Amino acid sequence: MKNAKIILDQDYRIGLIDKRLFGSFIEHLGRAVYGGIYEPGHPLADELGFRTDVMDAVRRLGVPLVRYPGGNFVSGFHWEDSVGPVEKRPKRLDLAWFTTETNEVGLHEFASWAEKAGCELMYAVNLGTRGPEQARDIVEYANHPGNSKFSDMRIANGRKDPLGIKLWCLGNEMDGPWQMGQKTAYEYGRVANEAAKMMKWVDPTIELVACGSSGTGMPTFGDWELQMLNECYDNIDYVSLHRYYGNPTGDTAGFLARTMDMDDFIRSVSSICDAVKGKKHSKKQVNLSFDEWNVWYHSNEQDQEVWKCEKWDRALPLLEDVYNFEDALLVGSMLITLLRNADRVKVACLAQLVNVIAPIMTRNGGGCWAQTIYFPFMHASKYGRGTSLRAIVSSPVYDCSDYEGVPTVDAAATLADDGSLSVFCVNRDLSEPCLLDLDLRSFGRLKMTEHLLLHHDDVKAVNTEEQPDTVVPVSVPVTPAVGERAQIVLPALSWNVLRFTKE
Ligand code: AHR
Repeated sequence: MKNAKIILDQDYRIGLIDKRLFGSFIEHLGRAVYGGIYEPGHPLADELGFRTDVMDAVRRLGVPLVRYPGGNFVSGFHWEDSVGPVEKRPKRLDLAWFTTETNEVGLHEFASWAEKAGCELMYAVNLGTRGPEQARDIVEYANHPGNSKFSDMRIANGRKDPLGIKLWCLGNEMDGPWQMGQKTAYEYGRVANEAAKMMKWVDPTIELVACGSSGTGMPTFGDWELQMLNECYDNIDYVSLHRYYGNPTGDTAGFLARTMDMDDFIRSVSSICDAVKGKKHSKKQVNLSFDEWNVWYHSNEQDQEVWKCEKWDRALPLLEDVYNFEDALLVGSMLITLLRNADRVKVACLAQLVNVIAPIMTRNGGGCWAQTIYFPFMHASKYGRGTSLRAIVSSPVYDCSDYEGVPTVDAAATLADDGSLSVFCVNRDLSEPCLLDLDLRSFGRLKMTEHLLLHHDDVKAVNTEEQPDTVVPVSVPVTPAVGERAQIVLPALSWNVLRFTKE
């Protein structure tokens, strides 16, 4: 057995955790909306056609924020298509996903769904094929109380009170050649700045996310952030980060080390924000919105086949990754990385929520089940609230293809407002358990109340509709009184949540 140690002190604080760190994402893509959250005629659909089994699964997951309606989809989207009488809404060819968008579910319907599911909306505007004017119009439609063209249109469409959307994305991945209306950093920075000014003139209470690079692999990464922030720093509040990881070669050790890249990514973008702040002699700090993150690779080949046969159909079965146990471990480590960077990352969205690279899956006309990645997210959202503590971790390390010195124990800790402490740990070791020595020096006598464990002997194990409980968390029996120290065994390849309350 290996040994690791974590020192925690309630005065070693990283910062307050914004609950929007546990956001997710629903795009008009594949079966996320049609056949996912919305399936009129399903035995469990409500009066609006929303599946109540899916809604319950979303509520259990704990998703305080949902980004909508894209993604790549938004860069060709006309928001006006999605409001007003459903039978009058146009069908559009969506050039992002080669699908027909029927607009049956639009802004009003989705806002009702989000309200019922307990999620606040994060709404993306189209800065690909459209510009500042339409961005301003949708803010007026959604948030202005009334007595103007677009707010009156909302009222006529049945919604008297404003939707009160507080968080807005200024386009999506505008650096990518796959994006409708791709721009250079300078072009995007200028458009984002003008859109931001106009949107905030309509509603000064809103917050805005400018597009960072669509990933660290982009040749323009870094320079994109620098140039676009140079144009729009004063009028935006967050920069977006997107990152997906995959394990196509089956190298589990290397795959689980990917959060080293995520950490570097966050540090680099924070530094660039601060460099622009310095250059502009600004007092304002721009924070980060990690508004797309997950594992994504399992469905890549399948999607090429779908497009060969069903291009332009409605609700194509796209990006339907079936997640295995090692994916859940990486998702756990990604959550740990977000918590460790809670001083700068204020918003984050697991991409996505239902059917499309998602923790929740459905079958049309059939069941709804939780994928492996559902559980670490649920635990982190439930217990990762309050203050993020600086965990001083001494752990064995390993080297892999892309990184040297990867700690086998990856950890974060949070202190809730009621004084309870949660420690989140992934043991990345492929074969050996680890005896973790927890030094809780400043907490007085703490009682360990719970050890939640997610483990499976087969890293490729998955949950299915027929066998939904193959990879599920268990509660490990704990020794209740521990004083200021605790020793816990972290099984090889495991996600652990260790919970303590004041005695
Ligand atoms: O989440 C799937 C897609 O990934 C999004 O539409 C896009 O923003 C990203 O490339």
